[in-house]
Amino acid sequence: MTHPFAWGVATSAYQIEGGRHEGGKGVSIWDRFSDEGRLRDRGDVASDHYHRLDEDLDLLADLGVTAYRFSTAWTRIIPDGDGPISRDGVNFYERLIAGLEERAIEPCLTLYHWDLPQALQERGGWRSRGTIDAFARYATVVAESFGDRVGRWITQNEPWVAAFPGHRDGVFAPGLTSWETALIVAHNLLLSHGRATEAIRRVVADAQIGIALDCRPSAPANDDSVEANRYFDGFRNRWFFDPVFGRGYPEDMVSVYTARGHLPSGLDGLVADGDMDEIATPIDFLGLNYYTTVTISAQNEESDEPEGIVGPDAPEGFTEMGWSNDPGGLTVFLQRVAETYDPVSILVTENGASYSDAPDRNGRIEDDRRIAYLDAHISAVEEARDSGVPVDGYFVWSFLDNIEWTQGFSQRFGLVWVDKDTGKRVPKDSYYWYRDRIRGTRL
Ligand code: FCB
Repeated sequence: MTHPFAWGVATSAYQIEGGRHEGGKGVSIWDRFSDEGRLRDRGDVASDHYHRLDEDLDLLADLGVTAYRFSTAWTRIIPDGDGPISRDGVNFYERLIAGLEERAIEPCLTLYHWDLPQALQERGGWRSRGTIDAFARYATVVAESFGDRVGRWITQNEPWVAAFPGHRDGVFAPGLTSWETALIVAHNLLLSHGRATEAIRRVVADAQIGIALDCRPSAPANDDSVEANRYFDGFRNRWFFDPVFGRGYPEDMVSVYTARGHLPSGLDGLVADGDMDEIATPIDFLGLNYYTTVTISAQNEESDEPEGIVGPDAPEGFTEMGWSNDPGGLTVFLQRVAETYDPVSILVTENGASYSDAPDRNGRIEDDRRIAYLDAHISAVEEARDSGVPVDGYFVWSFLDNIEWTQGFSQRFGLVWVDKDTGKRVPKDSYYWYRDRIRGTRL
């Protein structure tokens, strides 16, 4: 199957669906985190997409996207992670995929966007290799249900985020706080990517499969920070890109993790025979999520904290996440990925900006800063493409305002405003701008 350039928008199940108790859905680690009061807005309703599916499909059609990236909630399809399949859960995604097909929008399906079944967490979660087997079965069930109707498959979304904020820093579900656990989890997530890729291929021989890796390109703060910057790049970027593309874990990082006690017995305690080959299973495309770049010194070589002020007072040049707006960083990172790893194809599977612009008296949302951000980043993609990087798609994060994990609706990335109390949708100026940009495309 050859694809024209994909113009899309992206979402994830937990962030938009709500419908927590519908159709026998099981409890995920994010439901549990929400129950514990760790989210500013509960995910039980989120953007209420579960109940507004038809309206949202029409908004996608009017936007004119050629592709839609969404994730399936594992707990909707297999409520306890590895037991019986919920027909109601499968049917929900059946309606979504059929609705996309009717509107000639390519479904891009992500299997895992961080919402692990709580039942599996209680048996060790991603620390346990049993979870990898359960994930491969879940991948098989989804592939058997939707087969070749899915244009592109994404196994894992942002394994760095799933591993570190969730298992080292304790700030994301499941809220654990151990370096060693985070590295085991990262390894098992990568392994699950390889295993799921094989599982999907067994069902759909010519499936287009990839993984969505996040990146944080970085630069040293000064001449004394060169080492710290190399460490950060290894920790945040190379540790994930290198193994997926068959280079194994970067040796400099293995040494330093071992020396710092993060890997008490080096790679021996982490990697079993055959793991690295499985992680490097050939993929059809790389999904790249890009938002910002960071400046690194010895003080922040192990963190990923925002650089700017978080919230509506963010100064010019920063989004409300406190992330710097650096479109040039996207061109450079795309070129680096192409040169270093030579992927067959790259899709920018997430890119976008948080600004809280709300409806004015006439109901209009003038989110000019988002338009400027997106315009500059699409140009950055074009620049990379013109220089020979095989970028074949671009997805705005996000289609709808949604639950930005622990920050709830206080961070809004949508092209469409969502009233968090009523669920009412209002397309922002950026929605109309993106529609026109897609129509007038030169890519
Ligand atoms: C990415 C996530 C996505 C969203 C954006 C802002 O890290 O994949 O779910 O939270 O950041």
